[in-house]
Amino acid sequence: MIWWLSMNELIVLKLGGSVITRKEEKEFEINSENLKRISKEIANALNERDFGLVIVHGAGSFGHLPAKRYELYKGLRNKTQLMGFSIAHKSMQYLNLHVIDYLQKSGINAIPYQASAVGILSNGRLVHFPTTIIKKLVEMNIVPVSHGDVLIDEKMGIGILSGDHLVPYLAKKLNATRVIIATDVDGIYTKDPKKNEDAEFLREINSNTISKIEEIGTSNAIDVTGGMKRKLQELLELVRFGIESEIISGTKHGILERALKGERNLGSIIKF
Ligand SMILES: Nc1ncnc2c1ncn2[C@@H]1O[C@H](COP(=O)(O)OP(=O)(O)OP(=O)(O)O)[C@@H](O)[C@H]1O
Ligand SMILES: [Mg+2]
Repeated sequence: MIWWLSMNELIVLKLGGSVITRKEEKEFEINSENLKRISKEIANALNERDFGLVIVHGAGSFGHLPAKRYELYKGLRNKTQLMGFSIAHKSMQYLNLHVIDYLQKSGINAIPYQASAVGILSNGRLVHFPTTIIKKLVEMNIVPVSHGDVLIDEKMGIGILSGDHLVPYLAKKLNATRVIIATDVDGIYTKDPKKNEDAEFLREINSNTISKIEEIGTSNAIDVTGGMKRKLQELLELVRFGIESEIISGTKHGILERALKGERNLGSIIKF
């Protein structure tokens, strides 16, 4: 007997590395309080209503630190980087195992989907990433959990697949109805809110409000894949495919649960 999920709705969710690790402290440490709470919030939403869910988690300190140390974002330049490639991947697998563990303990049928084993980049952009198995898993009510990773790059030898790049790629290929990005700020501001007290919150990013963004980039934590700027660029591309996305706080209690239950306008919505 197989329980197939009727796929009226599919959400692709990114759990930011800034939420699930102690990224700012620049240490290889999982933020277990956040991860435990978030796992419960996801489980509550899944128990309340039927929707397909694919999770991608970011790297936080576990990926950005080795990527910086071995300059993996520059492509293959020396043999030492190959050990860096191996170390960065192992570090992400360690983080992934813990994410899966917390999700399972909350009752979620989570299973890892290892990006480096199946994906290929070309100049940092995904050119190959099979999703047949992801689709089947979701239909069976299993939650695939992929993550930012180190990948073979056909132009640069090796490269980094950012979770922020994987999310819109999956959303397009899987025809997702919604994308939710949980990070450590409430959404997009006119400037980095951690560095500027006068930063104004932007509830909606559209052709009128986008020019209000004065400064957007990375936080104080190490981030080799472009921080909030890259997120916005990637999500703006998604708009062309008619997929709405929202950047919300993953650090404030209950926001993610409400978003997964269908509420909108809890963070910054990107639509044009
Ligand atoms: N204009 C802006 N609005 C909001 N946040 C901004 C802005 N400019 C820079 N930031 C920074 O972007 C950070 C979030 O991006 P970051 O890539 O560090 O998080 P993440 O995606 O959760 O982590 P990871 O990349 O490890 O998955 C915030 O902590 C904030 O300091
Ligand atoms: Mg980032």
